[in-house]
Amino acid sequence: MLTVKHSKKLAIISFIVIFIFSLCMPFLSAKAASDDSLQQIKDKKQLVVGLSADYPPYEFHQTVKGKDEIVGFDISIAQKIADDMGVKLSIKEMGFDSLLGALKTGKIDLIISGMSPTPERLKEVDFSDPYMAVEQEIVIRKTDKDKLKSTNDFSGTKVGAQKQTTQEELAQKELTGSTVTSLQKVPDLILNLKNNKIDAVVLEGPVAEAYASQDDTLTISDAKFINGGKETSVAMEKGATTLKDQVNHSIKEIKDKKLLKDYQKEANELMFQKSNFFSQYGSYFLKGTLYTIVLAAIGVFCGAIFGALLALMKLAKTRWLRWPATWYIEFVRGTPLLVQIFIVFFGTQVFGLNLSAFISGCIALSLNSAAYVAEIIRAGITAVNKGQTEAARSLGMTQNQAMRFIILPQAIKNILPALGNEFVTVIKESSIVSVIGVGELMFMTGVVQGTSFKPFVPLIITSLIYFVLTFSLSRLLGIAERRFKTSD
Ligand code: ARG
Repeated sequence: MLTVKHSKKLAIISFIVIFIFSLCMPFLSAKAASDDSLQQIKDKKQLVVGLSADYPPYEFHQTVKGKDEIVGFDISIAQKIADDMGVKLSIKEMGFDSLLGALKTGKIDLIISGMSPTPERLKEVDFSDPYMAVEQEIVIRKTDKDKLKSTNDFSGTKVGAQKQTTQEELAQKELTGSTVTSLQKVPDLILNLKNNKIDAVVLEGPVAEAYASQDDTLTISDAKFINGGKETSVAMEKGATTLKDQVNHSIKEIKDKKLLKDYQKEANELMFQKSNFFSQYGSYFLKGTLYTIVLAAIGVFCGAIFGALLALMKLAKTRWLRWPATWYIEFVRGTPLLVQIFIVFFGTQVFGLNLSAFISGCIALSLNSAAYVAEIIRAGITAVNKGQTEAARSLGMTQNQAMRFIILPQAIKNILPALGNEFVTVIKESSIVSVIGVGELMFMTGVVQGTSFKPFVPLIITSLIYFVLTFSLSRLLGIAERRFKTSD
């Protein structure tokens, strides 16, 4: 009896002890981690900085000596911090709204992306001392300059801001009566502004100036925010005190030696580095076009082989071959290519296959095209008059011989033009593969849009390239078709 009572007491006490201990655990481990956060970076000899490179002059893409690079004064600051630590700098680009998550899951060591400390963010991460103080501005179309002069004038307008930024909040709070549209990338906001889809974009002062000076249809409104003054800092994981001290040390030196001025000057020069559009971005379009052609060619080639197989299955006598083919074709034709691409890309990941975006894109396009090719071939074969088979059979040919010598040669005349059309379709549809990051034409267009501050021109160039590709292909196919006709 006594022992039971005793052991009960013991159990309760040990439960309480464990409970209290586990409550303290996060603090203990955070403390322990805080002490080696700097050491960890030094040990792996690399500082990983996350940012969203759509924010000139903070961070943006630029062609430097013919190569695409991420530059800007945030990069100079990151480089200085890495140099002071004696480690290599590695930049990870992502959407601004993904940065906090990446920091918290340890994918990056620091965020240096023009990020301002806010009470909400301070709950999740720590911030260094600020390296810059800035005013928030509103970019508008020049034609609206006289109409939108104070924050009250924005009632009834559509205002854009980058997702999950302080600008988004500011627009909601101070531009009363306006509807706020949030997008992930700044260049898309500018494009929407230029196309009258929205009437204003709230941006950090230097960024607003950058875009306004790059585009003479845009300007900065005279409207001033009440709480428009913000600071930008470096973000790091909570409790990483040694890392924070080190970053603050570098920032202090940047301030003491007035290095930021030089960094800004450098960034501005890179931003305004003007050269001929084509000599600067031609290589992007060329590379993208090559990728598109290869992607489409592989898609059509593999699709044709698999499609022919499916067509034969569908024409087979046993339903065990017919059914799977029919269902496959129906499924693929009844679901969007976009979904199929994601299924292949992420699905293979689930099964432990780490396929590159390019391979995934090829597979998805082939699988998709096969379903359409199968129908083309099947229709081509069944369109040949039934009497033809009967005539061949009555001449003493076997079923196979009739297929090979009588039906197929005639069917091919039906199939080839349609197959050519399929090729044209695949060229166009391959643009969707850009969503998983394959560097084809559409993807490259996005890069050029962001780098050149020109949201529209790259789209026109790209549409022309697609048109030249598809038009010359259909011309070639037309010639081939006529050859076939004369051989009748
Ligand atoms: N300063 C703003 C914020 O902290 C916006 C920063 C956006 N940065 C960028 N690289 N797009 O929310």
